[in-house]
Amino acid sequence: MTLDIKFAKSPRKGADTAVIFVAADKTLTAAGKNLDKKTKGFISDYLKKEKKFTGKQSDLKIVTLPASSGYRRTLLVGLGKAEEQTQVKAENLGGKILATLEAANSEHAIIFAEGAKKTDEFFAHFAYGAKLRAYKFLKYKSVKKDDAPKYLGKLDFTAAGAKKIYKPLANIANAVYFSRDQVNEPPNFLYPTEFANRIKNKLKPLGVQVEIIDAKQMKKLGMGAALGVGQGSDFPPCMVIMRWKGKNSKGGPAAFVGKGITFDTGGVSIKPAAGMEEMKMDMGGAAAVVGLMASLALNKSKADVVGIVGLAENALSGRAYRPSDILKSYSGKTIEVLNTDAEGRLVLADALSYVQKKYKPRLIVDLATLTGAMMVALGHEYCGTFANDDKLWSQLEKASKDTGEKLWRMPLDEAWKKEMQGKITDLQNIGNGRYAGACTAAGFLQHFIEGKTAWAHLDIAGTAWVKSDQPTVPKYGTGFGIRLLHRFVQDNFG
Ligand code: BES
Ligand code: MN
Ligand code: ZN
Repeated sequence: MTLDIKFAKSPRKGADTAVIFVAADKTLTAAGKNLDKKTKGFISDYLKKEKKFTGKQSDLKIVTLPASSGYRRTLLVGLGKAEEQTQVKAENLGGKILATLEAANSEHAIIFAEGAKKTDEFFAHFAYGAKLRAYKFLKYKSVKKDDAPKYLGKLDFTAAGAKKIYKPLANIANAVYFSRDQVNEPPNFLYPTEFANRIKNKLKPLGVQVEIIDAKQMKKLGMGAALGVGQGSDFPPCMVIMRWKGKNSKGGPAAFVGKGITFDTGGVSIKPAAGMEEMKMDMGGAAAVVGLMASLALNKSKADVVGIVGLAENALSGRAYRPSDILKSYSGKTIEVLNTDAEGRLVLADALSYVQKKYKPRLIVDLATLTGAMMVALGHEYCGTFANDDKLWSQLEKASKDTGEKLWRMPLDEAWKKEMQGKITDLQNIGNGRYAGACTAAGFLQHFIEGKTAWAHLDIAGTAWVKSDQPTVPKYGTGFGIRLLHRFVQDNFG
């Protein structure tokens, strides 16, 4: 069941919960006053006695109402001060309220959209946050109807003018949903060619050109690094190229590159058993690139954008690549494999070289669940970002601040680039020690960036996947990067 959001002056009948906003000085909005009158002062009495509810933005309280109200309950929400009513804050509040309503078993709630400084903008973003939070992944549950959990089905907003502002946000949310769905799929159902077909089926109807380079063509092209990673799997690797060519195509396309390992066992340098199941999320970068393309197409972006994802399974078999194997990458550079678990950078190397050769992009942003070290450094809160260009970094930083998808700049350094040089080859796929693993990985990728091309590498190992508060879904894909990069493209390329 998906959450049905509606903006209209008069809400649909049958709601069980009225969401009422309370200002920082505890004054009620018009709808709040109305409800207070209907209940003979029940709400104002409650607010007077409840000292802990002050009306600050994080204050939420579910209160059961007398029957005269026409609702079963109200959710009182502190609106906070005017300067706190930013887009990101509205989204966070919307998410929090969605979770609160679901915990209270509400099935239909009305948001009496009043009291905010910019009503329509605030509540459009509020609805966007609620929508993002309402995501579920239940396709593999065969629960009997009676035991099925009840989810909020309808959410009505009394701000009719917010509808226009919400539309493009809903498009982004839908793209985020698609991306999360792919991340949450297990690798027996989502393997490289299946993922490629889903990308085609999703994007082609939206007007995105989609080209699949299958394993045979990869061989012809000489993509030895990506092929090496995929050779141990019965599911062949592939690359998918997506092009959205908006009107503003002067200066060449902006390129987005995604790591798409549909499962990472580590290969011969096998990972420990505990937690290995989480490695189905190792295609989170690719899923974000696909989601970004979908969101731009849905919103008819004017930008010229190319996306490329390198898809492979890092499996174990008698055919799997081994430590000491030497791979010849698409760029011509040779790589000694010292650890088969450092596979993402090998796939990215060929994708990066290919997109530069074929499209001469004005800039490149890659997204990859690349290193455990990144997660050790920044956890699930911040995405480590390596950029060789200050302007590109500041554009990303701005988009990050405006969307709430947090980035933290990490250093690129010649020392790490040098550390990745090979002993008997041009390059090796891991550094010499165990420290600065996220930085040496970025140093490896840097060898595949040509000339002065502006490039940023987002290591989303910690942010692509989070703990969930749903008991049935312990962890789930976030779609991290789509909102951020949609804003980045919109701000800079129309
Ligand atoms: N996909 C992993 C990185 C990862 C780990 C992502 C945990 C999300 C959560 C990547 O392919 C990997 O295995 N990296 C190695 C690199 C090492 C062998 C140099 C790592 O981080 O241990
Ligand atoms: Mn790995
Ligand atoms: Zn990996």
